[in-house]
Amino acid sequence: MMVRGAKLAGLGSYVPDRVLTNADLEKMVDTTDEWIVSHTGMKERHIAAPEQATSDLALMAAQRALDDAQLSAEDLDLVICATVTPDHMFPSTSSILQGRIGATRAGAFDLLIGCTGFLYALSVASGYVMAGLCNHVLVVAAETLSRIVNWEDRATCVLFGDGAGAAVVSPAKPGHGFLSFSLWSDGLNSHYLTLPAGGSRRPVSLQELEQKAHFLYMEGHEVFKLAVRGCPEVAEAAIKQAGLTNRDIDWAIMHQANKRIIDAAAKRLGLPESHVFCNVERYGNTSAASIPLALDDLYRAGELRNGQHLLLVAFGAGFSLAGSVLEWTK
Ligand SMILES: CC(C)(COP(=O)(O)OP(=O)(O)OC[C@H]1O[C@@H](n2cnc3c(N)ncnc32)[C@H](O)[C@@H]1OP(=O)(O)O)[C@@H](O)C(=O)NCCC(=O)NCCS
Repeated sequence: MMVRGAKLAGLGSYVPDRVLTNADLEKMVDTTDEWIVSHTGMKERHIAAPEQATSDLALMAAQRALDDAQLSAEDLDLVICATVTPDHMFPSTSSILQGRIGATRAGAFDLLIGCTGFLYALSVASGYVMAGLCNHVLVVAAETLSRIVNWEDRATCVLFGDGAGAAVVSPAKPGHGFLSFSLWSDGLNSHYLTLPAGGSRRPVSLQELEQKAHFLYMEGHEVFKLAVRGCPEVAEAAIKQAGLTNRDIDWAIMHQANKRIIDAAAKRLGLPESHVFCNVERYGNTSAASIPLALDDLYRAGELRNGQHLLLVAFGAGFSLAGSVLEWTK
């Protein structure tokens, strides 16, 4: 007996109103629009209002995904939130979201991974649905990176933005919807991208605050090298696991961290530029939210057709990598 499949039954996204342009950043740190565009492809990013926390962004995206799936919150069996910028260390942001959205029958938990969080969460949701343990799972990836970025550090502050994307994962016919997941971790390289203070290793103290250890720390060039090497490898693994070849991919949607990384990975995979989606110029790197934000943009632009094969690829803190292939079916 073939297990049932799992598909994306609804998509939604949300970005806060405030736009921070490269010209704005030129007034804040020693940088230029030319440097940012040529090194990253980014032109602007959205920043949460002071009163907006991650669950506020998540709520907007989640409501849109539920509307798209034509479901109500009571239909949900599980709410999973992928974030490294939770409202609090606990309770989980997914619990806050579950309560506010009115998912009265659902369990809820967070996945704290980083930029690969959405794909990890989709793999969990698909597993529950395929096993018949859940019918409808809400996966939300939401981030307020602006709260953990050091706005005096030009090497990192120009790169990140805030936003949220959501998906409802529901049953599909066997062999349709998600076809593969490749989840990799390279923990020996975890020190290149970290939030040093605030956990049990380095609890918040005056000294940590003075050292600015409560802000995101990144060795960008090392992350760049790991990503350029790792993304094509994890993508190839996911394509192979799906029983397909690179030529079968209609759309590649990669983590929107840097246009140069996306282009290099696409080139190594031999994917034509017209099959590779990129919206990094408008949102910057929104961590876990970047893939669902890109997916939702593509979907709402009317570009997705039943039967197309989508490749999703992410990299981030950990150092973690993730790839997935799905057959679009709505
Ligand atoms: C961050 C990143 C854009 C930097 O690009 P790069 O080509 O690697 O640049 P380097 O780090 O080698 O720095 C080059 C120079 O630019 C300078 N620079 C860094 N940020 C700058 C900025 N915002 N404006 C102007 N100059 C800047 C550096 O100080 C360095 O100057 P130096 O040569 O005088 O020392 C790139 O490494 C990157 O995208 N890395 C991956 C980051 C990522 O994806 N993180 C998220 C993971 S989920």
